[in-house]
Amino acid sequence: MSTWREDLDTSSEMFSLMQSIFANVSDAILVVDRDGLIAAVNAALEQMTGWTEKELVGIKHICELCLGMATCMEETSCADCFFKQVQMPSFEMRLRTRDGRDYPVTASSARLPDGANGELVMVIRDMSAQQRTEKERYQHKLTNYAIAAQEEERKRIARELHDGVGQALYSILVGLNVVGQGHLSDPIRQHVNDLLQMTSKAMEEVKRMALELRPSALDDLGLLPALRSLMKRVEKSFDIQVELHVQGERRRYSAAMETALYRIVQEAMTNTAKYAKASQLGIVFEDREKEVVVTIVDDGIGFEVEKALHTGKGLGIFGMRERAQLLGGTVDIRSAPDEGTTVIVRIPVSKEET
Ligand SMILES: Nc1ncnc2c1ncn2[C@@H]1O[C@H](COP(=O)(O)OP(=O)(O)O)[C@@H](O)[C@H]1O
Ligand SMILES: [Mg+2]
Repeated sequence: MSTWREDLDTSSEMFSLMQSIFANVSDAILVVDRDGLIAAVNAALEQMTGWTEKELVGIKHICELCLGMATCMEETSCADCFFKQVQMPSFEMRLRTRDGRDYPVTASSARLPDGANGELVMVIRDMSAQQRTEKERYQHKLTNYAIAAQEEERKRIARELHDGVGQALYSILVGLNVVGQGHLSDPIRQHVNDLLQMTSKAMEEVKRMALELRPSALDDLGLLPALRSLMKRVEKSFDIQVELHVQGERRRYSAAMETALYRIVQEAMTNTAKYAKASQLGIVFEDREKEVVVTIVDDGIGFEVEKALHTGKGLGIFGMRERAQLLGGTVDIRSAPDEGTTVIVRIPVSKEET
């Protein structure tokens, strides 16, 4: 029995077969010349991106369609672009569509032999909805893990600062006090007094650092006492009056939830202190049985939220949202110039949360 290859005895038959495959295959195919300019596309690519062959071939550069690529495990920079490789069997990339959407796809690329019209051929496949959800779930898991590891490390360093350096400084302070009680010449007494002052300042600094890293009250006493002590520190360090109202039942939540809420409120308060030029900051903490809602309001200068997020600032706000999302919650920020800022955090409480 002959194979279909053997049946194709003329090169024109082979050519029309290839053309038919190119036109009808469901994967998108893209050929790029040696300068990165698009040299050929098939119908599937037109469908996927919304651009027509006419709008692409000889006009658009591959970089105009690529919003970044990733190998299966990590983000890859433009410096390690598939375009520079001889062959990339499988990678993920984000395609830019005609209507400005960011379209995640899986792709493979191969350099064509010398003499071919194009330099590089890419086969692009729509990432299935299932793959997308799986990837998102995996990324959530990774973020969750990174956040938990960071908190654990902060806890460890805070404890070490408090119990190690803090205790050592305390011993020095006690020793210096004993020395100070002896008969000393005036210059030496002055010296001892200076050392006493420096040591107690260093002790305060260590205590402040440990508190900022992770207040032990958060683990020992819970969210509200930790928030109260954070408020006092903000009031003391910045000229802002802070008030907290608590509504609903007072109870403990899971460690993950208490930490997330603490960090979110801490970021919102830090933002007010840093940028808002506010004189008052109000926090309303509501336990609505099935969810906790925390509202943080300042009377400061406000800002354009979308603009701040799009200008590449907004890592803090991004982190707040990420923490809330990991627990199935949301962070909503309402602000406008001269209108102050309101941050509303909602986190659902499941039965096993408490
Ligand atoms: N309460 C606020 N009042 C005024 N401007 C704010 C407030 N919160 C945030 N902003 C603005 O939004 C930007 C982004 O905040 P954030 O995401 O926390 O990033 P970062 O604090 O690292 O700049 C800030 O740089 C600031 O310009
Ligand atoms: Mg910030």
